[in-house]
Amino acid sequence: MAETCKIKRIGVLTGGGDCPGLNAVIRAVTKTALFQYNLEVWGIEDGYLGLIRNRMRRLARDDVSNILTAGGTILGTSNKANPSHFSTEKDEAGNPVFEDVTARCLEHFKERKLDLLICIGGDGTMSGASGLAACGIPCVGVPKTIDNDLMGTETTFGFQTAVQVATDALDRIHTTASSHHRVMLVETMGRNAGWLALHSGVASGADIILVPEVSFDIDKVAGVCEQRSCYGKAFTIIVVSEGAKPLGGDVVVNRIIKDSPDPIRLGGISQVVADQITEKTGLETRTTILGHVQRGGTPCAYDRVLATMFGHAALELAVQGQWNRMVAMQKGRIVSVPIEEVANRQRLVAMDHPLVAAARGVGTFLGD
Ligand code: F6P
Repeated sequence: MAETCKIKRIGVLTGGGDCPGLNAVIRAVTKTALFQYNLEVWGIEDGYLGLIRNRMRRLARDDVSNILTAGGTILGTSNKANPSHFSTEKDEAGNPVFEDVTARCLEHFKERKLDLLICIGGDGTMSGASGLAACGIPCVGVPKTIDNDLMGTETTFGFQTAVQVATDALDRIHTTASSHHRVMLVETMGRNAGWLALHSGVASGADIILVPEVSFDIDKVAGVCEQRSCYGKAFTIIVVSEGAKPLGGDVVVNRIIKDSPDPIRLGGISQVVADQITEKTGLETRTTILGHVQRGGTPCAYDRVLATMFGHAALELAVQGQWNRMVAMQKGRIVSVPIEEVANRQRLVAMDHPLVAAARGVGTFLGD
């Protein structure tokens, strides 16, 4: 057993949208805590909601056994509960009224005699952790998201699995597109970051990739489809990130979740692009929106390994007293960064990223 530390009881929660690898992190945190440091581990249910409502349960070895490969999260999650901006009721017009319930979280944290929280999540979860840290709740963050858009880390767990899911779908679309001589559009998730579209697009050899970071010129997109059909390439595969937008235009909003701290849900741009291509070229188009299938299911081997390393490293930070930091991957090594540097920020695809150059190099059209 490693050297003992002053913390005795930790809480662990998963916040934001779910993602493959969450259970692998919970397992790594809990097993390291139990086996190496003899700590007590409490699982907080449904992200910050469990802290706000005081819903948590003790995790034993058996609770985290056999969950390495399972998708989702055994603790549940919520992408609506941010302690400093929590909707408790609605006004007369039916709009949510937000309140800062951080003090309530602190009360429950103390009541349960917790020493520290391990917060597994994306930018919203890190923003919540940053607020809690400022009020005296020590936190350690673990970066998750299929969007791969967290600051301070070159990768997040869950991303590689989502890339594989999208790539598998694109490979299948490829064969039907070529048989029917169609323009086929596949819409990926990713919010305002194009990582998922770019990686799956390059992996599947897509002809056109539209990402939020590059406003696309619809005439040029239609032109590429037309040119391809003239040169005997009787089909075109287009990967469209849900956050892609036309030159001078805006994103397509699918819905507004009023009581969420981040209320806009994107979706539907692929159909808009498809309709415009048909209008401009007469080519037949079809659209597939991959949606939540990219977030579900078992994590790939890479994500299981990364999640295990992140979970273990988070627990090590906790016992070393390196609090209010998020574990991160930089230059292939596990490091840590201050949580407040990550909170509410997004890491977008930079135009000088080698993958952008490689995509352009092999003739992929990026819309500009
Ligand atoms: O952040 C992960 C993500 O899947 C985004 O890619 C997507 O825009 C969003 O969450 C969807 O959120 P929800 O699950 O609330 O529909």
